Amino acid sequence: MNLVSAKNISHSFDYELFSNVSLDLATKESIAIIGISGSGKSTLLHLLSTLLKPNSGEVKILGEDVLSLKPKKLSYLRRHELGLVFQSHYLFKGFSGYENLEVSEILAQEPIEDALLKRLEIEHCIHQKVTELSGGQQQRVSIARVLTKKPTIIFADEPTGNLDTVTAHEVMDLFFEYIEQHEAGMILVTHDDTLAHLCDKVYKLEDKELVRVK
Ligand SMILES: Nc1ncnc2c1ncn2[C@@H]1O[C@H](COP(=O)(O)OP(=O)(O)OP(=O)(O)O)[C@@H](O)[C@H]1O
Ligand SMILES: [Mg+2]
Repeated sequence: MNLVSAKNISHSFDYELFSNVSLDLATKESIAIIGISGSGKSTLLHLLSTLLKPNSGEVKILGEDVLSLKPKKLSYLRRHELGLVFQSHYLFKGFSGYENLEVSEILAQEPIEDALLKRLEIEHCIHQKVTELSGGQQQRVSIARVLTKKPTIIFADEPTGNLDTVTAHEVMDLFFEYIEQHEAGMILVTHDDTLAHLCDKVYKLEDKELVRVK
């Protein structure tokens, strides 16, 4: 069974963004989506991760048709199986980094792992208020928050956009190790071709179509 399976999805806001997009994510697989700004990458990620409903087409997550899922099942799926790293990271600003992780700890009933904080090099600043952290530190806290949930599917929208090249590669290695060890999968949106090509497959959103380029 695929972790994610999208068939012929189409979406428009004021005009058609894309049509007949199909994509499958298998266990232990990573997929990158690239494309110019405004091509619809974030929108596609929102459609694949249950945040938006496509105008037409089908999205299945862990074999379940998202469009026909009951609200309770959908909440369960979002809380326990899906991990979303957003382009704007939506940390709780009045909280410290650690308190943000505690929210995940409580919701998913999974412990916060010191090894993860060390790996992301945020253990020294995790008790500072979010507003006192640098953009890159905030981004790494949001990645720690998502991985603390132990999701089966990671959806990441420019997760390394605020990071230097070395740190960005370290974060990618962490994601790849995570999906290998937890039998998970990842769909990543990025502007960085080099990072994209570290993934198993690469797709490009161009001229309203999703084209496989690797
Ligand atoms: N909720 C919305 N309502 C109306 N239009 C929207 C909405 N969300 C996105 N759009 C439009 O859809 C288009 C694609 O937006 P999207 O955020 O998916 O692009 P993107 O490829 O992720 O761009 P970027 O690389 O800059 O993040 C844009 O023209 C945007 O204005
Ligand atoms: Mg975007």
